[in-house]
Amino acid sequence: MRYGHSTLADDTVLSEQREYYRARAGEYDKWWLREGRFDRGAEANARWFAETAQLERVLERFAPTGNVLELAGGTGLWTRHLVRHAASLTVVDAAPEVLAINRERVGDPAVRYLEADLFEFTPERGAYDACVFAFWLSHVPADRFAAFWRTVGAALKPGGRVLFIDSARTERSTAADHRLPAADEQTMTRRLDDGREFQIVKRFFDPRQLSAALAELGWESRVDTTGEFFIHGTATRSGR
Ligand SMILES: C[S@@+](CC[C@H](N)C(=O)[O-])C[C@H]1O[C@@H](n2cnc3c(N)ncnc32)[C@H](O)[C@@H]1O
Repeated sequence: MRYGHSTLADDTVLSEQREYYRARAGEYDKWWLREGRFDRGAEANARWFAETAQLERVLERFAPTGNVLELAGGTGLWTRHLVRHAASLTVVDAAPEVLAINRERVGDPAVRYLEADLFEFTPERGAYDACVFAFWLSHVPADRFAAFWRTVGAALKPGGRVLFIDSARTERSTAADHRLPAADEQTMTRRLDDGREFQIVKRFFDPRQLSAALAELGWESRVDTTGEFFIHGTATRSGR
């Protein structure tokens, strides 16, 4: 896959991506709530909320019990659900601003928050029954995909389970003033409400191709779509 910028710009884009989420922390939830630039009209919004409700049911069915690791936990839109299932919950994110919002939203002193760059992060080996990441895999560049899944594998106990949720490719998901990356590119420009611009990685996965890529890396997975807006998948190591 070609980069929107050159491969050499990779580290720059990843640091801009971190800066973007730090700067966006206070307005992040507008995307989830379809407010402001994310309001795509009554029909699109109704469909969005029907599909977010589907995702919440997916998480309930997955039932992330035991010791749970949430990667890129953000403002806590998923942490608030994980905390109801998990015996212990560790949330990792690079942005202190989103972790502060998460802490306040979830309000559970037992949740452990780690401020860390996931491309440098070494989890406690074999410590977790489940690992969950929502809207994170799409921000992992293609050349770091395998290393990221090795990190996930290292974190899990034998038989440990993964749940991931992410964006499907549709113009109606992002803000009205954003353009999705071309099919052969993996970076896009994101804008904040005040007009500041950032380059970030954004990849979209076809469920079958993603499952095949995970099989290559030794994961058994099942990846589905909610219809228009989202994909979701579960994975366990195939033990090859
Ligand atoms: C699209 S948000 C997803 C947040 C949350 N999981 C959700 O579904 O709302 C991506 C998150 O990744 C975090 N992030 C970006 N780069 C990171 C990095 N290198 N290491 C750790 N977290 C990072 C951001 O701070 C942000 O909270």
